[in-house]
Amino acid sequence: MRERISAIETEIKEYSIIETEALERFRIEYLGPKSKVKALFAELKDVAQSDKKELGQLVNKLRELAQNKFNEQQLNLVKESTVHERLDLSRPADQIIPGTRHPISIIRSEIIEIFNRIGFVVSEGPEIEDDWHNFSALNFPPEHPARDMQDTFFIEKGKDEIALRTHTSSVQVRVMENEKPPIRTISPGRVYRNEAISARAHCFFHQVEGLYIDKEVSFADLKQTLIYFAKEMFGEKAKIRLRPSFFPFTEPSAEVDVSCTICNSKGCNVCKHTGWLEILGCGMVDPNVLDSSNIDSKEYSGFAFGMGVERIAQLKYRVNDLRLYSENDIRFLKQFKSGI
Ligand code: DAH
Repeated sequence: MRERISAIETEIKEYSIIETEALERFRIEYLGPKSKVKALFAELKDVAQSDKKELGQLVNKLRELAQNKFNEQQLNLVKESTVHERLDLSRPADQIIPGTRHPISIIRSEIIEIFNRIGFVVSEGPEIEDDWHNFSALNFPPEHPARDMQDTFFIEKGKDEIALRTHTSSVQVRVMENEKPPIRTISPGRVYRNEAISARAHCFFHQVEGLYIDKEVSFADLKQTLIYFAKEMFGEKAKIRLRPSFFPFTEPSAEVDVSCTICNSKGCNVCKHTGWLEILGCGMVDPNVLDSSNIDSKEYSGFAFGMGVERIAQLKYRVNDLRLYSENDIRFLKQFKSGI
């Protein structure tokens, strides 16, 4: 009987239990009512009295061994199955969807790059502006309609009015106040106007302002800079035309159209059958503006221009509804890809 006990002991120790079925087979073989261990207990009745105690202890130990192994393996299998449930290694990995840049950021970066290449550096100013930088220093007369409540979001009314800037021309003033010519700068930024939101107007949008001040800067320099910009932005075939216009801070002033890139100037809905699309305002900096910022208008001259980033984006991407640019609809945004 001793040999059989030690043979069963080895069997129990070596029994491999890797799944629940094996565990159940083990239980039936060594712990159940018809198990090998139960049979040994039955045999104990017939052994000699002198051996009973020792053999009894051995069989008891055997049962304990089987029971412990059973408990241990049962626990392992439970642990393994919960780990497996959490970590399904056969599951395909989640797709990584890279984000895209906002179309306004893409166009803004393109504009900055184009002007960087001819020496313009970026300068920025605050979105909350005082009356001086947004209007007075730019030669707006006190009764000018642009100062009206209908256009401007005022924060504080009164003598030193504070408002959300209505254009990035305010940054021109800040640069002229702080730097000595030659100045060659572009100022991208967000601007605000008190307008009802529609496909064609929004209460906030983005502009890029340009300013060049030096000795003997002429209108020809302005024109050449704008031709360069139009060709870089819209392609080698792009042409520009200047129409006389008025801005308080430039004299003379012009509005600039670019040849319609959509119909090749043949006439379409977008250019309203004119073959031209308006893209920016510009002019020679008014001597009053130079003098207000302590730049001697007898010594220096300069040009300035301002363009809407949404406007350029509309033309490049043919997206006409302005509202799409600020709604952050993923279905709209994911269509834009850029290397910049
Ligand atoms: N500030 C003008 C606007 O918001 C745009 C503009 C026109 C800027 C002419 C300029 C300029 O610098 O010279 O409509």
